[in-house]
Amino acid sequence: MIINWGELTPQRFLSEYWQKKPLLIKKGMVDEFEHQFIDPLDANELAGLAMEEEIQSRIISHKNESDWSVEHGPFEHFDQYGEQDWTLLVQATNNWSAETNELLKPFNFIPSWRLDDVMVSFSTPGGGVGAHLDQYDVFIIQGEGKRHWQVALPDDSLVNLLPHPDLKQVSEITPVIDVITESGDILYIPPNHAHKGTAIENSLNYSVGFQAPSAQELWSAFADKLLDQDLATARFADPNRQPTKNPNVMSDADKQALKQFMLKELDNEAVFNDFVSSYLTKNHHQLDIVEPEDEITPQQLSKLVEQQLVSIEPVLGLKSHLNQDKTKVYINGDSFELCPKTQFLAIHLANNEPLHPEILPSLTACLKNNQLLTRVINMGYWYILD
Ligand code: SIN
Ligand code: CO
Repeated sequence: MIINWGELTPQRFLSEYWQKKPLLIKKGMVDEFEHQFIDPLDANELAGLAMEEEIQSRIISHKNESDWSVEHGPFEHFDQYGEQDWTLLVQATNNWSAETNELLKPFNFIPSWRLDDVMVSFSTPGGGVGAHLDQYDVFIIQGEGKRHWQVALPDDSLVNLLPHPDLKQVSEITPVIDVITESGDILYIPPNHAHKGTAIENSLNYSVGFQAPSAQELWSAFADKLLDQDLATARFADPNRQPTKNPNVMSDADKQALKQFMLKELDNEAVFNDFVSSYLTKNHHQLDIVEPEDEITPQQLSKLVEQQLVSIEPVLGLKSHLNQDKTKVYINGDSFELCPKTQFLAIHLANNEPLHPEILPSLTACLKNNQLLTRVINMGYWYILD
């Protein structure tokens, strides 16, 4: 799939719309060859995913504007919900469906650490989650069916409603986009822009959602790292202290010195880089990780690659990242030290590029590569496909 930007370009989109204003791109997501949107899954496959324990799913239904119910998966049956006024939402569908994961590719003009997941919804006529605000940027792609979407600008007069303890909605919105979306249409919605989608026909929607950590989350996770690794244990020092006339007042100079003392830890480039790379490659959702029952050794791996045509592939939805000086690769929050010999392999790992039989023997001929590969395989991040 590609994004058919029309008059726009990724560059123009970022400067004019990203985090600023909502946008509708008619027929924005199309197949390169057929020039139409092809659903990566169907409603039955989505229902199948909602039956799985490790996949987060919800069914939201309503009888009227004030009587809403929310049920959490896994689900066994769907017949009881009838033909209208309900929607099934499945989080991080891209971690389980390779075709859905492909929907992320056209968004690679935004770095992968900013991405969160592809949430897929199936809605019957009248179905939706009601008017609400999200804190994150989202591109909602219309698949099969049609849906009435309304998007409003930020509005302080909106009242928060809680028609069900698990359902945050807002009072009636004044839309600046009011449209019936059809297959392939993309709706971009920045954070804090209220929106509401109501299905007209049985409808599939793909929400490509982004993440933006709060400063609170970052500080808290950074403090956790300092504690876990027993870093920043030095004590505040003040060898040049002068006598004070006001012992019960904390001077501005002391406050500044304390602030600088704390900020010095953030200025430690090695620690900070390691922290952000680990923290932001950690997936928020369950991955399809199956650690091998018996760990494979580097020797076994090189023998296997010599004797059989195998590929080594990453699990879906894996977030990986190579640091700028190519000394470490980060995979789902774990870091792996590199040496000059493993840098080429690390580029494949960071890009989640499957290792095919044409390239594998030359890689596994090197012990260092073998050791790195066996580690990521034994941790379940990459797996052997024969
Ligand atoms: C959907 O109903 O498909 C998307 C829900 C949302 O707007 O967050
Ligand atoms: Co939303």
